[in-house]
Amino acid sequence: MTSREVAVLLRDVWKSYMIGRDVVTVLRSVNASFYKGEIVGIHGPSGSGKTTLLKLIAGLDRPDRGEVVVDGYNLNMLDDLGLAMLRNTVVSYIPQDYGLIDELTVWENVELPLLLAGASRDVREKRVKDVLEYIGLKGRERVKPLTLSGGERQRVAIARALVTTPTVLLADEPTANLDWGNAVRVAELFKRIKEDFNTLVIIVTHDPRILEFVDRSLNIVEGTLKEITPR
Ligand SMILES: Nc1ncnc2c1ncn2[C@@H]1O[C@H](COP(=O)(O)OP(=O)(O)O)[C@@H](O)[C@H]1O
Ligand SMILES: [Mg+2]
Repeated sequence: MTSREVAVLLRDVWKSYMIGRDVVTVLRSVNASFYKGEIVGIHGPSGSGKTTLLKLIAGLDRPDRGEVVVDGYNLNMLDDLGLAMLRNTVVSYIPQDYGLIDELTVWENVELPLLLAGASRDVREKRVKDVLEYIGLKGRERVKPLTLSGGERQRVAIARALVTTPTVLLADEPTANLDWGNAVRVAELFKRIKEDFNTLVIIVTHDPRILEFVDRSLNIVEGTLKEITPR
């Protein structure tokens, strides 16, 4: 009964950037499997390639070499439109700065991925309402994100990521700007999401407050992933 379903597979993934005239290789032959229903912590010093890795899994960027497979989709086989559709169905990425649109209300921010996915008005109404209730943002629908606390803004970003019922949720340093109470609340929320929806949650963090919530941890060391707490 414990056969684990692979949600993300990385096979010999390489990624370099041109910085000035230099080619800087950030990821060198990354190989890893991540499973549905687990929370994985990714650690590593600033500049080690953590955000790069999340963006490759989210289909926001492409590897130079190797394969990224997300919920059975080999991202090399998808064109840009395919990747955009993937991000509206299978995988959600929460950027470090939350990426909320200040001019839109909480409701409109959370509704946006469903609009882009072409969901009907009825579906959108019900889904946004359900997600905001689940995340604990009921009563905040009509306000703008900037009037909210940091913890609430992070929860709006999580609601927007969750509204499309993704298999994979990627969070880039989600608690970096939060105080103790809000950081723990966000970590508990990821745990609840994992348990309720069998989601794979990958969290980039160096926050010790998050560590007790992850099922396993990986370090980026010289461009490859090393397991540091195998279970
Ligand atoms: N779009 C880009 N163009 C050029 N260099 C980049 C780009 N994105 C990231 N880098 C470089 O790649 C390295 C890893 O960046 P990043 O993945 O953001 O690291 P981390 O999230 O671990 O801090 C850094 O040296 C960064 O400057
Ligand atoms: Mg980063």
